Amino acid sequence: MKIIFLIATLLSSQHSDDLKGQSYLQSKDFAAPSFTLNAFNNLHKQWKLNSPPDSKTALQIFESRYGMHQANYPNDDLPMGLKLAPFPLTLGTVKGIALDCLICHGGILNGKSYPGLGNNSLDLQTFFEDMNKADGNKKPLAFRFGNSRGTNEAGAVSVFLLGFRNPDLSLKTSWVNLGLDDQLHEDPPAWWLLKKKKSMYATGGADARSVRSLMQFMMSPIHGPDHFNINEKKFANLQAYMLSIQPPVYPFPIDYSLAKAGKTLFENNCSKCHGTYGDKPNYPNKIIPLKVIGTDTNRFFGITKEFGRFYNSSWFSKEVEGWFSDDYKARETNGYQAPPLDGVWATAPYLHNGSVPSIYSLLNSKTRPKVFTRDFENKYSNYNQKELGWNYQFKNNNEHLDKIEAPEQRKWYDTSTPGRLNIGHTFGDDLTEQERSQVIEYLKTL
Ligand code: HEC
Ligand code: HEC
Repeated sequence: MKIIFLIATLLSSQHSDDLKGQSYLQSKDFAAPSFTLNAFNNLHKQWKLNSPPDSKTALQIFESRYGMHQANYPNDDLPMGLKLAPFPLTLGTVKGIALDCLICHGGILNGKSYPGLGNNSLDLQTFFEDMNKADGNKKPLAFRFGNSRGTNEAGAVSVFLLGFRNPDLSLKTSWVNLGLDDQLHEDPPAWWLLKKKKSMYATGGADARSVRSLMQFMMSPIHGPDHFNINEKKFANLQAYMLSIQPPVYPFPIDYSLAKAGKTLFENNCSKCHGTYGDKPNYPNKIIPLKVIGTDTNRFFGITKEFGRFYNSSWFSKEVEGWFSDDYKARETNGYQAPPLDGVWATAPYLHNGSVPSIYSLLNSKTRPKVFTRDFENKYSNYNQKELGWNYQFKNNNEHLDKIEAPEQRKWYDTSTPGRLNIGHTFGDDLTEQERSQVIEYLKTL
């Protein structure tokens, strides 16, 4: 009886940690403002409107122009991922607009926002450009926040911000370039996969247990070193929240006899890298060498050893100290991590750079489109149940692309440009069409 009671309290305290983490993520003191309220109040001019629209219309514009979704929690009429937050040192009297994790890690499925699903609709670059102009800045942005709609340059954000810090996170007098590269085209992984992983990020370069690694996003130069220590416990709760998120269940019918045949094929062809699912799941957490996986290498080389070395000298890597602890340091790997495939139907486009729009074309490399686009709305009526992925349109070349305006241009994913190659992962090519459809049917059940 006592043991049951103990387990129950343990479980409920874990439960309350994840709820605390969720409410921290949704709270106003989460991050420092990146923009003034003035910029925000003038944003409508960038939309070519004479006055600010009503809040419903504004949310629709955020959705269509930037791919930012409606919050499913109270958020001052702002989309998920943006917050009205006080500037530190003003005792809360001056507010600005802050970003939080959900701008990149909050997606949408059939009109409902889904925190933890990567935001595959986001155009962060257009948002930053509009806000910069609305603030009256004539200077261009320091680097690109996104090059194609649905991917972003989160790696460049970290490298840029760490360049302002000393190892103890106090601020340097001048910025040091730790190898900034803004052509990595990163497709944010779903948070529900984290609970299976020992290592995280596309290359498996960080310990998945690390809380401090998640705090890189808090490096706004507005904050000194104290801010990190003060918030570490809250970030541990945020991690508990991420670990509690479940993948969305496939919303369309499944043919279970096809899926059964697909399971056997999957176990013979895919499990050694992606693991097994069902009653006794096993995830091998493998990093596959570049020459075996063969996918685009920009992300691999784009976060430099210099950055890794500096990171490892800093507060971020000193999370568990002591003799026998295997500290949560950044590690050099030789390729990309084979991710778990739970809820994979919902995470199109595929590969770390989002270069392949459907699972069918991932598993039949000849059919991968060269230049493609879609409506970015993620409505079920536009879901392709045969291929697994959102319906897309494609072209065989990029000739017309330089003639259209930048935000429209970013809607087209051009696989001939650096960081966007759709090569590699040819493990499905030897399957017959029938076998491929069986594997696809099985993937719907994960
Ligand atoms: C600007 C967009 C952006 C923001 C903001 C952002 N992330 Fe990410 N996050 C990404 C991208 C992109 C990746 C994949 C990076 C890679 O490996 O290339 C990622 C990776 C991760 C991972 C690793 C997942 C895995 O399975 O490998 C975790 C965990 C994570 N982010 C948590 C957070 C948290 C917590 C916050 C807020 C404090 C946050 N992120 C803010 C874009 C973002
Ligand atoms: C040798 C190891 C290996 C084998 C075998 C393998 N994969 Fe992969 N798979 C990977 C790696 C590594 C990635 C990530 C590559 C990247 O993003 O650059 C990946 C990515 C994927 C993705 C995209 C995940 C995402 O969210 O972007 C899917 C889907 C997938 N594999 C399905 C399969 C299926 C189905 C099979 C069997 C027919 C298979 N894989 C066989 C290593 C493997």
